[in-house]
Amino acid sequence: MNKIKVFAPATVANVACGFDIMGFALEGVGDVIVVEKTTDNKLTIAEITGTTGIPTDPEKNVSSVAIQAMLDKLGSDQGFSISIEKKVKPGSGLGSSASSSAGAVVAANHLLGNPFKKEELVEFAMEGERAASEKPHADNVAPSIIGGFTVVRGYEPLDVFTIGYPEDLYAAVIFPEVEVKTADAKKILKSQVNLSDAITQWGNVAGLTAGMITKDYDLIKRSMKDVIVEPVRSILIPCYDQVKAAALENDALGCNISGSGPSIFALARGREAADKIADAMGVEFTKADIAFDKYVSPINGKGTEIID
Ligand code: HSE
Repeated sequence: MNKIKVFAPATVANVACGFDIMGFALEGVGDVIVVEKTTDNKLTIAEITGTTGIPTDPEKNVSSVAIQAMLDKLGSDQGFSISIEKKVKPGSGLGSSASSSAGAVVAANHLLGNPFKKEELVEFAMEGERAASEKPHADNVAPSIIGGFTVVRGYEPLDVFTIGYPEDLYAAVIFPEVEVKTADAKKILKSQVNLSDAITQWGNVAGLTAGMITKDYDLIKRSMKDVIVEPVRSILIPCYDQVKAAALENDALGCNISGSGPSIFALARGREAADKIADAMGVEFTKADIAFDKYVSPINGKGTEIID
């Protein structure tokens, strides 16, 4: 096999209390990546469609940077040509760069005869994240590659695992057309937290993890709270408080910023509940005359998939 096409899903990272460690994959929204072996020992970005402003320089594009990290580990100089159909908008907070990195490494790994397991590819895709934001976090690339709900237990060394979740858990995601620069969303964070906030946060992380695994909706609801990042970042997103209030009034289990924003997500029990929440969140942006896209999706358990 010399050529392969994959779908790499968009993701919701942080999931309220799990800054930089928790994430889940969405269904139906993601990047389509075609990777083809070449004989010139080079990585080339052949085409990028669906958006503008993404670097085509292989030393800067997240897909080629991620594949290069994998080739370096193998000691290989295999050439690849990469074409990217962007369906996750950059700067959405839905793991746009992560989808491109994840899809690229899964595709190249397959063309090389699968020398690495999916879990092992996370480390290479993180190099794409480093290229995009100077911060090689794994909370978007892990769910995009592996699927499901993933947790990063530690970064040094990287230790990622997946946890169970209720089958009828749905995400309502709303992406307002406002610009929140990822760099600004990172710079604004405090570098230190106080002990009482840390205690609250790690209690919620434990509660959310246990609630997911045991399918305890009430525990999920009590735990989907973030006292460290949301209070600081939410001021960058217009109408955030109103949108969150609308989600909670419509029985969302919780509502928070997706990744570094501006997308906002809510979790709900069942598709019907999630549809109602997404509509209610949209009403708030409509009132403020802000255009938006919305997605309603169960958790995608498959991660990056080969489609051709
Ligand atoms: N954990 C990262 C952050 C995700 O919140 O900055 C970025 O999508």
